[in-house]
Amino acid sequence: MKKILAALLSLTMITATACGSSSDSGSKPAQTAKQVGTPKAAGTSQAEQTETQAEQSTQTEAAEQTTQAPQESTSGGVLVAYFTPAENGENDAISSASKVSFWGEDMGNAEAIANVIAAYTDGDLFSIQTVKDYPLDYNELLDAAKAEQDAGELPELATAVDISGYNTVFVVYPVWWYTMPQAIYSFIDEYDLSGKTVIPVTTHGGSGLADSIERFKELEPNADVKDGYDVNGDDVGGSQSDIEGWLSDNGF
Ligand SMILES: Cc1cc2nc3c(=O)[nH]c(=O)nc-3n(C[C@H](O)[C@H](O)[C@H](O)COP(=O)(O)O)c2cc1C
Repeated sequence: MKKILAALLSLTMITATACGSSSDSGSKPAQTAKQVGTPKAAGTSQAEQTETQAEQSTQTEAAEQTTQAPQESTSGGVLVAYFTPAENGENDAISSASKVSFWGEDMGNAEAIANVIAAYTDGDLFSIQTVKDYPLDYNELLDAAKAEQDAGELPELATAVDISGYNTVFVVYPVWWYTMPQAIYSFIDEYDLSGKTVIPVTTHGGSGLADSIERFKELEPNADVKDGYDVNGDDVGGSQSDIEGWLSDNGF
């Protein structure tokens, strides 16, 4: 039974990704969002990382603020953290099938959605990246993700961000095997989102938000976890106006 379910899921997901591209990718805003975050030294805790960032901040205080500066939010407090395998594969290219042509660039589906949210909310973008690379081949990725999930592995993160200046954190990711990718569990494990508004956003091949809301509420009990939003992978290319409508309805 489990095998049949897995085969069905693979079929749905392959169909979803293979049809994911669309030429109608909305309009790219004149000013796109700022990427924040820094490469993280292996084995560095969030506290150590924050300390390192504070030191870096002091060292560069006199210097011109660059667009990459991770120390302070200039976004009115909105961070859009996203994970997509397209930025976590060997050579940064999982496969063309897992990317969508968006605003004239090839992006992972979650990355495209994150870009729309960050541009609309004037938020900062943070790419959650793992130390390890995920396989290039889609079927190998399915297997690797399943094995990682079954083992309860929390992959070490390669990027870090100081979240203290953000009141609202959107977390954007693809559904993997009916739940969040293990990298999102690593993100939740590493960052204390207490007191913040947390908005999970997924892309998927039919599972919607899966168990995202329950898991966020359970693992971040002191965060204000909102209902969230999901976009089918097939629809990402044409999703900009719907995402913006949802953001507008929710006061952004
Ligand atoms: C390892 C893996 C597992 C997946 N599991 C699911 C799933 O359980 N349910 C679902 O609806 N889609 C699933 N999908 C499909 C992706 O969520 C979907 O194609 C998504 O749009 C990909 O976004 P990305 O381009 O950012 O990776 C899975 C895809 C992969 C690669």
